[in-house]
Amino acid sequence: MSMQNLKNKELNKIYSKISSVVPEVEWKFHAPLIEKINKLKKEKNAVILAHNYQTPEIYHGIADISADSLALALEAAKTQAKIIVLCGVHFMAETAKLMSPDKKVLIPDMQAGCSLAESITGSDVRMLKEKYPGVPVVSYVNTSADVKAESDVCCTSANAVKVVESLGTDKVIFLPDHYLANYVQKNTKVKIISWQGTCMVHEKFTGKEVEDIKKENPDIKVIAHPECPPDVISASDFAGSTSTMVEYVKEKQPKKVLLVTECTMSDNVQVENPNVQFIKPCNLCPHMKKITLNKVYDCLKNETNEIKIGHNIAEMARKSVLRMAEIGR
Ligand code: 13P
Ligand code: SF4
Repeated sequence: MSMQNLKNKELNKIYSKISSVVPEVEWKFHAPLIEKINKLKKEKNAVILAHNYQTPEIYHGIADISADSLALALEAAKTQAKIIVLCGVHFMAETAKLMSPDKKVLIPDMQAGCSLAESITGSDVRMLKEKYPGVPVVSYVNTSADVKAESDVCCTSANAVKVVESLGTDKVIFLPDHYLANYVQKNTKVKIISWQGTCMVHEKFTGKEVEDIKKENPDIKVIAHPECPPDVISASDFAGSTSTMVEYVKEKQPKKVLLVTECTMSDNVQVENPNVQFIKPCNLCPHMKKITLNKVYDCLKNETNEIKIGHNIAEMARKSVLRMAEIGR
C-alpha cells in the first residue's frame, strides 16, 4: 500500500469513529491538520495529552492519552517523549511541567485559564494559614503553581476524600472549589474549611433542570461532576471525576444517560458507546474550547507557548503534586 493510501486509511478510520458527532463539512478542515500533527508528533518525539473536555477531533484524532486531570498528571510523569503538548487548560500544563520538569511542556493557547484557578492566589492561602494555624491545606489541582506552593498536598475530584483523610487531622483547609468542598464534607468526618471559588461551567446546572430532565426521561441515569451545586448532586444517581463518569457509562451501558458536566465530553463518550443515548444540556467551558487543531499544530511546529515556572515556586509546588501522586486514585 502506498504511503498516501495508508494515510487516507488512517484518516478514514478516525472519521468513521467520530462521524456521528463531527459533520463532514467540518471534517474537511480537520483531516489535513490531523495528518500534519500526527506526522510532526512522531518526528519531534512529542506526546499529546488531552483532557476529556477536548473536542472529538482532538480527543479521537491526535491525542495519545485522553483522561481526567489526575491521569493527565500521572501520565506526564511517566512519558518518555521529549515534548508534551497539553490539550487542556493552563493549570493542567503547569501540573504536567511540575511532574516532568526536564521535559518541554507546551500549551496551544496560554489564555486557556480556569475560573477556579483564578479564584485564589498564593497570598490568599497565606492569609488562610494565618487564620487557621496548623491546619493543613489541600488544594484542588485546578490552581496556579503559586497556590500549590503554599499547600501541603493537591487533589483532584478523583481522590479528594482520600487525600483529605490521608492527613490524619480533624480539620483541613480545602480550596478553592466551594461545591467540591461541600461534596467532600458529605463524605468525610474531617471538618472542611472551604473557599468561595466555583467552576463557571458546573455552577450553571440546577437541581430543577436535572429533575425536569428526569421527569421527561424516567429511565435515565444521571451522573454529575462534584463541581456541581449540592442540589444537582442529590438529584443524580452518581457523582465522580470525568474519567469515573466515562467508566460508569462503559461498564453499566445505561439505555439513556445525562452527564452533568462540560457537554463536549458527552460527544467523546457517545462515540465509544453507540448503544447509549445521551441527553445533552450544553454548558461549554470557554477555556477548554480555546484549544484548536490549528493552535496545536502551530505550537508543536514552532515549539511556542512553553510552560515556565520559577525555580523556588516549582520546587515547593512539586512537593504538593508528588504527595498527591503517591496517594493515587
Ligand atoms: P476532572 O477531569 O479531574 O474530573 O476535572 C474536571 C474539570 O473541570 C477539569 O477542568
Ligand atoms: Fe475550570 Fe470549570 Fe473549565 Fe474545568 S470546566 S477548566 S474547572 S472553568
